[in-house]
Formats: sequence, C-alpha cells, structure tokens
Amino acid sequence: MSSNSAEKVALVTGANRGMGLEAARQLAARGYHVVAAVRDEASGRQAVREIQAAGGRASVLSMDVSSSDSIARAVEQLHAFADRLDVLINNAGIYPDEGLSILTLPRVQLARTLATNTIGPLEVTQACLPLLRRARQARVINISSGYGQLSGLSADVPSYCLSKLALNGLTIMLADALRKDQIAVNAVCPGWVRTDMGGAGATLSVEEGVDTAIWLATEAPQEATGHLFRNRQEVDW
Ligand SMILES: NC(=O)c1ccc[n+]([C@@H]2O[C@H](COP(=O)([O-])OP(=O)(O)OC[C@H]3O[C@@H](n4cnc5c(N)ncnc54)[C@H](OP(=O)(O)O)[C@@H]3O)[C@@H](O)[C@H]2O)c1
Repeated sequence: MSSNSAEKVALVTGANRGMGLEAARQLAARGYHVVAAVRDEASGRQAVREIQAAGGRASVLSMDVSSSDSIARAVEQLHAFADRLDVLINNAGIYPDEGLSILTLPRVQLARTLATNTIGPLEVTQACLPLLRRARQARVINISSGYGQLSGLSADVPSYCLSKLALNGLTIMLADALRKDQIAVNAVCPGWVRTDMGGAGATLSVEEGVDTAIWLATEAPQEATGHLFRNRQEVDW
C-alpha cells in the first residue's frame, strides 16, 4: 500500500496486541495511514485486516526492535511506501523481571531489557529521522512507565525500571536534539492497563491506557516537547 502525500502517516511498534494495537486502531480511525511494526507478522497482518475492515488505512512492517538489522530493513521498506512520517509511537516493550531484584539481576537480563525497551526506541527514532524531518511538525511518543520515574523505581522490578528510566533520559535528549527540526518528543506513563503485560486485574482499559499517547500524537501543542505526561498532564521525571 502506498501513501499519498496529503495523508498523515503513523508508525506504531508492537502494534499487534495490547496498547500498540489500540493506538494503531485509534490513529487509523482519525485518518492516519498506520504502519504496524511487529515482530510477529501473522498477528500483525490480522491487526491490519481488522483496521482495514473498519475502514482505516494500515500496512504491516516486520520489525524486531531489539535487532539493529531488523530495524534498518524495516525502515528501508517503509521508504518504499511512505514519503514522510508524522507520528512515531515507540510502544513495543517487555516486562521480564519475575523473581529478580536489583541484588540478583544478571548482566545479560539487563542488557536484553535495555535492547528492547531503550535502545530499540533510540534506533527506531534514528532510522526514521529522514522521514520524520519530511513531515511538518512530527511527533515522537515513547511509551514509558511510572516504574521509570525517579519516585517509582522498585528494587523488585530491576531491569524494567532501569530501561524506562533510561527511556525517559532518551526522551529529554532527543527532544533537545530535534527541537530545531520542530519534532516534538515526549514520554507517556499510561497507568496500569489491562493487557498481557498489565494483567486482567489492572485498573485501566486499553482505550484509557492510550488516551494520553493519542492526544500527544494528534492534539497536544507542538511546543510541548521533552516532557513526561500522565492523564494529559506533565508529571515529574
Ligand atoms: N500494561 C501496563 O500496565 C503498562 C504500564 C506502563 C507501561 N506499559 C508499557 O506500554 C507498552 C505496551 O505494553 P502492553 O501493556 O501493551 O504490553 P503487551 O500487551 O505485552 O504488548 C507488548 C508489545 O510489544 C511487542 N514487543 C515486545 N518485544 C518486541 C520486540 N523485540 N520487537 C517488536 N515488538 C516487540 C510485543 O510483540 P509480540 O506479540 O511479538 O510479543 C507486543 O506487541 C510497553 O512499552 C510497556 O512497557 C505498560
């Protein structure tokens, strides 16, 4: 599927399930051509079919955010059907610390979590920069967590907390570096959301969970950049 230049394009990582899928649905419903970047192509194709059946425009792109090669290949393919990128939502993430604490966290586990939750968003943003720069006032949204806030760090969620803390730092630095290009970069704490990651007992629906990310992607003032948001309000790092 190719994109025409009047149409806004949004790429969402981890768009095959959970909050990524909901963000993709909502952006498509608002008229964006949504690119669902997924590592599991079968469920990604299913997500795209659902969005198309609801009247939206969507394409699937195979992308494992923990692999530099995979990101580079995916963004090369993206250039073939999109001439710009208006919105990038770095959503894909893992929460793998069951049974671990900061006292027992193995180096390999920390490296694996950082590769997906932190270095993934960095490399995806870097690779998408030529397309983001071609959009008028692009927006990058990093899905962070209360566990990444200085007040939310937990010794029992060690690699996840450190990965989101670093994602928050990355948000500040990218926002600073991209201000001159009028590219807004912000982080979001979605709250505790009913997904495979959040579990059935979580307090928020996926619709509620993506509300602030969709607001940042579509309606928030473009001058708002380099901040962490929850419930559409800026909160402390
Ligand atoms: N749920 C919560 O309460 C909560 C709270 C705060 C923050 N968050 C954050 O919100 C984001 C979305 O979480 P969720 O609750 O929707 O989780 P989820 O339902 O577990 O979905 C995670 C998504 O990330 C994808 N993913 C994981 N590793 C990947 C990789 N290497 N490459 C590409 N995709 C990858 C998964 O793809 P596969 O299907 O291939 O595994 C899946 O699409 C995450 O960044 C998470 O840290 C969630």
